[in-house]
Amino acid sequence: MGGTSRARRDARRLRSLWRRCSLLMFSFLSLIYLSFFGVGFPLFGSHYFLVNQGTSTIEIVKNSWNHAHDNLASNIYNLDELGDSVNVVEKEGFQNSPALPTMGLHSDNERNISHRTEGDTPSTINVRSNILEVESPKHPKPKFRNRHGPCEIGFKESVDDLLEPELNMNFTHFSLEYIVKEERPSGTVAFAPQFGGHQSLEERENSFYARNQKIHCGFVKEPEGYPSTGFDLSKRDKEFMSTCRVVVSSCIFGSSDFLRRPTSKLISTYSKNSVCFVMFLDEPTLTKVSSEGHVPDDNGNIGLWRVVVVKNLPYTDMRRTGKVPKFLSHRLFPSAWYSIWIDSKMRLQADPMLILEYFLWRKRSEYAISNHYDRHCVWEEVLQNKRLNKYNHSAIDEQFQFYQSDGLIKFNESDKKAPLPSYVPEGSFIVRAHTPMSNLFSCLWFNEVNRFTSRDQLSFAYTFLKLRRMNPGKPFFLNMFKDCERRAVGKLFRHRVEDLHPPVRE
Ligand SMILES: *[C@@H]1O[C@H](CO)[C@@H](O)[C@H](O)[C@H]1NC(C)=O
Ligand SMILES: *[C@@H]1O[C@H](CO)[C@@H](O)[C@H](O)[C@H]1NC(C)=O
Ligand SMILES: *[C@@H]1O[C@H](CO)[C@@H](O)[C@H](O)[C@H]1NC(C)=O
Ligand SMILES: *[C@@H]1O[C@H](CO)[C@@H](O)[C@H](O)[C@H]1NC(C)=O
Repeated sequence: MGGTSRARRDARRLRSLWRRCSLLMFSFLSLIYLSFFGVGFPLFGSHYFLVNQGTSTIEIVKNSWNHAHDNLASNIYNLDELGDSVNVVEKEGFQNSPALPTMGLHSDNERNISHRTEGDTPSTINVRSNILEVESPKHPKPKFRNRHGPCEIGFKESVDDLLEPELNMNFTHFSLEYIVKEERPSGTVAFAPQFGGHQSLEERENSFYARNQKIHCGFVKEPEGYPSTGFDLSKRDKEFMSTCRVVVSSCIFGSSDFLRRPTSKLISTYSKNSVCFVMFLDEPTLTKVSSEGHVPDDNGNIGLWRVVVVKNLPYTDMRRTGKVPKFLSHRLFPSAWYSIWIDSKMRLQADPMLILEYFLWRKRSEYAISNHYDRHCVWEEVLQNKRLNKYNHSAIDEQFQFYQSDGLIKFNESDKKAPLPSYVPEGSFIVRAHTPMSNLFSCLWFNEVNRFTSRDQLSFAYTFLKLRRMNPGKPFFLNMFKDCERRAVGKLFRHRVEDLHPPVRE
């Protein structure tokens, strides 16, 4: 008798404990959720719809849920990191093979990556369910939904289906050379060699012409007897990098992020064997991530990533230093035909070859970047950068004034023939063919970041529009895709350090 009532009491206690726990858990999650999105965001729904024409309401609702999921997950990224390391160590026991002997890319007669029929037109697109499937929610959906989620991407089913289109012939052809060394100008008392070189305004203007020429594009070496201009790499790493044909690269400088390994199970054996996955780190960051369990093996690999240590960072602003690998992959990987940039706040969860097919080949593009999920006008971006104190305000103004005096105008959302779907990019994921136009654009954009602020969203549209304006009849095939597509390719996390960049000018 007494036993039964005790059991009942215990059960009651358990139930109430459970209720309390659930309540606590719910409050906790709600707090996280609110701290992320605030309460005002549902008001923006209509704007989002306008921007992403063709997205159905159903999709938005679905995406909202997906992303809410994603963000809760990012809030517990510490746990996730831990779990992931354990998993990945077990699964990723191979090494990158540097050369691509079997890859027929780029040779005019032999363009197939693998042997497959011509029936694979874009109309027979298969949705990759493994990326897009979301666990069905066990709990009622949260009341507030986020409008920024991933959307479905019609990747090919497997890399065996890929066929590089014969479109490179159509890209604008010219030959670019780069200034590799600067001599000390005679008569100048104070001369400090710089990684970006000393480009005059006239040189800058001329560099926008798509023609055979020699331009500044970083990696300008110091004259004899001066200290290094920076971004020094070991001979071994340089040799390795010069063999890469297709590259996925990322960087962490100043320990700003955790190291996130690509999701191995979503990457084909073909890509694992033929694509270079390169993670650039400075020495302190390598020490930091090593202490967290990501220790490079004898070949310098951490999982899929081949770690490349950068010595003598060219800028004290880590964000600006990060633009070197971000924009200049054609300089770092001189033999590469294609490169994919992924910011270290994202984990790659799609196959690089399928990414090339979807973002470049199928769209007949030589450069692909996503638009910003929210802002489309540089004017808004300037305000936002100041509001969040992202950079020295007078330096922002200086850059913005310069651009306006050189023809930058506001984005016109109702102009169907606008040269870009948005003037503000979300540059954390960039896919490039290393064609002359694409390389030129990358150099020009880098030079803006080198000359003005390191906020590259401010200079993107200006650089693109000026390049177009100065080269009528020489097309540049840029695919500006939707932010939700970017979110489908990489899982987003928060930075380890939210802002380590003081708003100063170098
Ligand atoms: C490439 O694909 C085409 C059409 O599918 C085929 O006829 C040709 O033999 C393939 N070439 C190679 C080198 O596999
Ligand atoms: C090549 O470019 C021309 C005009 O720029 C265009 O009409 C044609 O469709 C393009 N061809 C391919 C294969 O993209
Ligand atoms: C925006 O584009 C539309 C459609 O082309 C045009 O009618 C309108 O005048 C433009 N607005 C501005 C401010 O340029
Ligand atoms: C901010 O930028 C202005 C203009 O470029 C510069 O003169 C000033 O020294 C900078 N301020 C700081 C705190 O770096």
